[in-house]
Amino acid sequence: MVKTALITGGAKRLGKSMAEFLAAKGWNVIIHANNSSDEAQQLALDLHTKYPKLKFEAVKFNLSDWKNATAFIDDILKNHSQIDLLINNASKYSPGKLIETNKDLLEEMMAIHYYSPLLLSKQLAVNTKSFSIVNILDSAIVNNKTDHSVYLMAKKSLAEFTKMAAVEWAPNIRVNAIAPGPVLPVEGKSQEVFNNVVKKTPLQTRVDLNSILSTLHFLIENHNVTGQIMFCDSGQHLI
Ligand SMILES: NC(=O)c1ccc[n+]([C@@H]2O[C@H](COP(=O)([O-])OP(=O)(O)OC[C@H]3O[C@@H](n4cnc5c(N)ncnc54)[C@H](OP(=O)(O)O)[C@@H]3O)[C@@H](O)[C@H]2O)c1
Repeated sequence: MVKTALITGGAKRLGKSMAEFLAAKGWNVIIHANNSSDEAQQLALDLHTKYPKLKFEAVKFNLSDWKNATAFIDDILKNHSQIDLLINNASKYSPGKLIETNKDLLEEMMAIHYYSPLLLSKQLAVNTKSFSIVNILDSAIVNNKTDHSVYLMAKKSLAEFTKMAAVEWAPNIRVNAIAPGPVLPVEGKSQEVFNNVVKKTPLQTRVDLNSILSTLHFLIENHNVTGQIMFCDSGQHLI
């Protein structure tokens, strides 16, 4: 039976690569987007042209609207009897130190990176017998760099959720995570800033998209791994 994956923030960049990768491996893919819903529709069409026997669908939801995250999953489950993989990938890399935090930024960061991923996961957990979750974190979760404090605290929360849910939802649900280092420059930021970040990693190498994809593949296929956070980051978390 063909398996189905739901990828949040799946229309562009890493999310799109994961959608293309899973399609090539024979998965149906539900591509979630918010502002990029046109790109998500186009990706679904392109993948359908390439893999006509598989199913691809674009869905739109603003993860900031976290109180409706369970309803969003309920809508998806009306058309899909089974979701086999949820990738909580969507993210917004908002700058800001703790001292600059206001309630809107706090709520937005927690909604996108913690409340919504938790509620999407939970709603699938109560409606699905067996599936797997992969949370996309950030190698900075082990540090306390303060220029994106609220973003980072929300990602740290998602890392803790990965471990707690792995225990609570076993044996039928596995919950793992990938913590990437520098893969792609932040949208709107220069290549030079990105290159400087790469140069400071122990391996002094940009993280290859294929490295992220092979890590994803390992986490999906290895049925004895749960609660694992895989740092795919050229060693960035060590410094
Ligand atoms: N890029 C890197 O080098 C790097 C490094 C470390 C960690 N990561 C992590 O890897 C993952 C993918 O990275 P990326 O750079 O490809 O991510 P990204 O481009 O920053 O964001 C991915 C998607 O998240 C969606 N998103 C943001 N706010 C949303 C909201 N309120 N509601 C719904 N969707 C929302 C956006 O979808 P729409 O465009 O549809 O709104 C966006 O396309 C992220 O979790 C990121 O934190 C990436």
